[in-house]
Amino acid sequence: NKVVLAYSGGLDTSVIAKWLEETYRCEVVTFTADLGQGEEVEPARAKAEALGIKEIFIEDLREEFTRDYVFPMFRANTIYEGEYLLGTSIARPLIAKRLVEIANETGADAISHGATGKGNDQVRFELGAYALKPGIQVIAPWREWDLNSRESLLAYCEKHNIVVEKKKGKSPYSMDANLLHISYEGGILEDPWAEAEEDMWRWSVSPEQAPDQPTYIELSYQKGDIVAIDDQPMTPAAVLAYLNKVGGDNGIGRLDIVENRYVGMKSRGCYETPGGTIMLKAHRAIESITLDREVAHLKDELMPRYAKLIYNGYWWSPEREMLQQMIDRSQLPVNGKVRLKLYKGNVTVVGRQSDNSLFDENIATFEDDAGAYDQADAAGFIKLNALRLKIAANKGRNLL
Ligand code: ARG
Ligand code: SIN
Repeated sequence: NKVVLAYSGGLDTSVIAKWLEETYRCEVVTFTADLGQGEEVEPARAKAEALGIKEIFIEDLREEFTRDYVFPMFRANTIYEGEYLLGTSIARPLIAKRLVEIANETGADAISHGATGKGNDQVRFELGAYALKPGIQVIAPWREWDLNSRESLLAYCEKHNIVVEKKKGKSPYSMDANLLHISYEGGILEDPWAEAEEDMWRWSVSPEQAPDQPTYIELSYQKGDIVAIDDQPMTPAAVLAYLNKVGGDNGIGRLDIVENRYVGMKSRGCYETPGGTIMLKAHRAIESITLDREVAHLKDELMPRYAKLIYNGYWWSPEREMLQQMIDRSQLPVNGKVRLKLYKGNVTVVGRQSDNSLFDENIATFEDDAGAYDQADAAGFIKLNALRLKIAANKGRNLL
């Protein structure tokens, strides 16, 4: 038997590789993906080889991640609990999919990952894997073994001749990074009153340190997706990388929250999502002129459900597919341009235009609209809407 392991090349997943071989007497296949975490993935090859791994998969998934997961999610203006842009949540379904596909290719009957038994990630990996390959076995070492401290992991390495590189500047936080965000949890953040240290943040300057001059950018949309910046056509991953850079340089996208994990506990996390913060604001602006009011409001009502599906690990589910079709259909007229001003942590929309615009200057104007809108119609509109309010008041349902 064979198991495909989501392998980062770090200490934890290196120990897991050895532990799987030892405990299950199985062959281990490693899978390492570049999702834009900003670290080389190629070194994982030599590390896997040193562990005696024969089948090693190393893949650049940045475009697929942005095009097929991040962009579809942003079409819905998705935010979890009013704040979290789901940077980690949205990467898990792609990793689950590749684990399953590699299992199929290599004839493996199991997958394994390095998520702890206390978090959301285990749920996301495993729900995804079961949805895509119902007969798959899942091995989650963190729920099984007794190596529950860094000391015991290091001792395990010593015993099994696993070379651990002593990284200098190793972060004291539990981090997860990809093109959409970096997350920080644990360490001093476990006290929700303690402010994160300035040197924790990796992609953004603080708003205080950001330039005194604003940066203007123009985003071009087609069917709800950004296809060009300042008239330069770009791939999805290039768009996100560019927005991370200008956003980070202007102190945009830092977030410090306490969120509700699916497994039941509250957890404190800090997130750095410069590009995503810009995309959310800009997408709402292009929708503001291109979407019908009721379509926009219905999307807004369903958005928290869609966000919760993604957070809780149900990307690969019939209800997510159903919502996605609806969201994607709504985006057909979402074309045009948004002009933004980035300044000291703020994203301000300063202009929007579209060939599909529903905004009508002739109707909206405070000047003479040449009969486009008959103000006398408003009297009946208001009277009929007031009817039930009047009836209730007449029957003694006093509101005061
Ligand atoms: N709390 C966030 C979420 O559930 C981030 C999780 C970070 N995961 C990690 N392995 N460090 O999406
Ligand atoms: C983990 O438990 O592995 C990270 C945190 C989470 O998944 O929520």
